Formats: sequence, structure tokens, C-alpha cells
Amino acid sequence: MVFYLRGDLGAGKTTLVRALIQALGYTRRVKSPTYTLLEQYEAGGLHLRHFDLYRFRDEEEWEATGFRDEFDGRNVCLVEWPEKAHGLIPQADVEIMFEILPSGRNIMLRANTKTGRECLNSLQS
Ligand SMILES: Nc1ncnc2c1ncn2[C@@H]1O[C@H](COP(=O)(O)OP(=O)(O)OP(=O)(O)O)[C@@H](O)[C@H]1O
Ligand SMILES: [Mg+2]
Repeated sequence: MVFYLRGDLGAGKTTLVRALIQALGYTRRVKSPTYTLLEQYEAGGLHLRHFDLYRFRDEEEWEATGFRDEFDGRNVCLVEWPEKAHGLIPQADVEIMFEILPSGRNIMLRANTKTGRECLNSLQS
């Protein structure tokens, strides 16, 4: 699956991904991929790929890093700043939109695919 995380700098995207990975049982440090652009985790029987594309440059970098290969239908890809790789990155199954409130955050979830809808429906049951 592919998740996009959208929101301003400091909106809480990394914080949510960190909580998710830890909830899956990962006990070591979950770093922000600010400089590496990609961090990888195996947790809860899932292959997780956490991207932060804020510093992502262009198509050449997309090919050089092999990012395309990570969207293989097997990995769970969680992508901060997906708009930086617009036109290169596959469509999201689920988009998570963050809004900064005076206290805390407002989060909106949107499913774009059948898989995404199944995922969000399972949250309600
Ligand atoms: N739900 C929340 N309520 C209050 N504070 C939060 C919440 N989520 C994150 N924060 C705080 O906001 C700050 C920035 O969070 P975070 O690094 O997750 O943002 P980000 O969206 O990943 O930013 P960037 O675009 O720079 O990667 C952190 O200090 C974090 O503790
Ligand atoms: Mg972040």
C-alpha cells in the first residue's frame, strides 16, 4: 500500500509514522528520513518504507536512488511531501491530511483506491 502524508512543516507527519511503526512492535529508534529521504523497517510482519521527499530533487534522483523499485506492491510506503515527486510516485491508496490547530492537530483520511477503502473501513469496525 501507499500512504501520502500531507501537511505543513511540523504538522506531525513523522510523529504519526513513528507511532505507527512503534505500535507494530518496533523498539529501536525511528528517525526522520529528513536527510536520507528513506528509512526502512521490518515490523509486525510488514516491510515499511518511510520517505521524506522534502529535499527530493528530480527524475534523475528518482532513478538513481531506485525509489521506483520500493513501490512494488509488497512494501507499505509512507510518504511525506509526495508532491515533491509529482508525476513519478505512484498514486496513494490513502492520503492523510494534517491541519495544525492551536492545540493538537486535525487529521483527515481519504481513500483513493479499493484497497484504501478496505483499509479505512476496517478502522471503523
Ligand atoms: N498531534 C500532535 N499534537 C501536538 N504536537 C504534535 C502532534 N504531532 C506532532 N507534534 C509536534 O510537532 C512537531 C513536529 O512534528 P513532526 O516532526 O512529526 O512534523 P512533520 O510534519 O514530520 O514535519 P516535516 O514536514 O518538517 O517533516 C514535533 O515537535 C511534535 O512533537
Ligand atoms: Mg517529517
